[in-house]
Amino acid sequence: MSRFLIEGGNPLVGEVNIRAAKNAVLPIIAAVILTEGETLLRDVPRISDVENLLTILSGLGIKVRWQDGDLHLDTTQIRNNEINKEAAQKIRGSIFVLGSLIGRFRQARLPLPGGCSIGRRPIDLHLYGLGEMGVKFSEANGILSCNLKRGRSAEIYLDFPSVGATENFILASAIGKHTVKIVNAAKEPEVVDLVDFLNKCGACISGAGTDTIIIEGVTSLQGVSHRPIPDRIVAGSFMLAAATVGGDVLIKNVVPRHNANLIKRLRQSGVTVTATNNAVRIITDKRRRSYSAQTGPYPGFPTDIQSQYAVFSCLTTGITHIVENMFEDRFRYVDELRKLGARICLRGKTATFKPIKKFKAGTKEAPKVLRGHELRGSFSLVVASLASEGYSIIEGVEFIDRGYERLEEDFTKLGAKIIRI
Ligand code: UD1
Repeated sequence: MSRFLIEGGNPLVGEVNIRAAKNAVLPIIAAVILTEGETLLRDVPRISDVENLLTILSGLGIKVRWQDGDLHLDTTQIRNNEINKEAAQKIRGSIFVLGSLIGRFRQARLPLPGGCSIGRRPIDLHLYGLGEMGVKFSEANGILSCNLKRGRSAEIYLDFPSVGATENFILASAIGKHTVKIVNAAKEPEVVDLVDFLNKCGACISGAGTDTIIIEGVTSLQGVSHRPIPDRIVAGSFMLAAATVGGDVLIKNVVPRHNANLIKRLRQSGVTVTATNNAVRIITDKRRRSYSAQTGPYPGFPTDIQSQYAVFSCLTTGITHIVENMFEDRFRYVDELRKLGARICLRGKTATFKPIKKFKAGTKEAPKVLRGHELRGSFSLVVASLASEGYSIIEGVEFIDRGYERLEEDFTKLGAKIIRI
């Protein structure tokens, strides 16, 4: 397992280019199962979540080819095999394959994420909606078997606007003779991009980006060329890195309105944010004010940049409260930040950050060792270390590699001292 060795204290100055969004690319790659012929996806990051999903697609007979950062997928020889268990259990995104296989073959066999049984693991919303469409389920030895003998029109009411469930219903119903309506659908830009991709392929889907999506089934879908939207979470991560560490960073290939919530908050905090059509520049040269936040579905404050915002909040002038409403286990970075001197009080869903002047890492001989437990939290520990005085080692880099492509190279270009060991 690789680790990062970081010497903190250098401002970040320069440019960083954002590639296609992981959370758009994953469902779109799964959607390719529905298509005939060849699809070209442009500017796809070679991150491990993508590679794992491609392993699953290869197991289904889909030809995968990378060329100059673009991804070519050919479904000419697709077949409905059982999903590769090892790859499926590595990523939660494997759940999308379920919707696509049902859409294409009317049946699917998929290892449950983490091998949990039906109902206890939160894929209950996925199963409820697919059930409304007529899918029958059974489970044995951690394998979920799904069958759609006769597809039917359905109105699916989501109790919570789950991103994955919304996308799964779209994938499962794009082909067929039915009409499916999703009420209280997720409005994330990645859902809109999935629908844009499918409509290009010949699907008939309306309402994406609103809370009601209507899918009218079509006979077949054809492969196309598509450039998925830029990664708003990676863009937001770099905005917060620049705002926390200090400096002057131009983040290119961004859709600023996808990060409107964060940009507003950064401006209120006193960070200079200049947004153009497709770039955002962050300049920070002084101590920022604090601004409390709570996570919520889009266009609310994204849970995926909660931990990065927490690191930023540690170094602001007042007390910040951050409420995590989406996932229970998203404060695991707190103990690691405390090792750098952060003053954080954690109660249930709320973390309170008291201001400190600086993070303090270790010496060259005895660096502080910080352990990341998940993708975004691990990225945040990198940022805290870059903002620290002294040396740190970050463990858990394999989580970072799931969603950030060669992160150390981007930070090195910005003047940071970070190496993979
Ligand atoms: C997606 C994103 C993830 C992001 C999350 C919320 C991808 C690949 N991942 O994850 O980066 O953090 O949206 O913006 O796009 N839930 C249930 N039952 C279900 C499904 C979800 O209880 O059947 C719960 C989850 O446990 C969680 C909440 O709903 O508490 C939100 O989950 P959801 O919107 O489904 O997130 P994902 O699609 O898993």
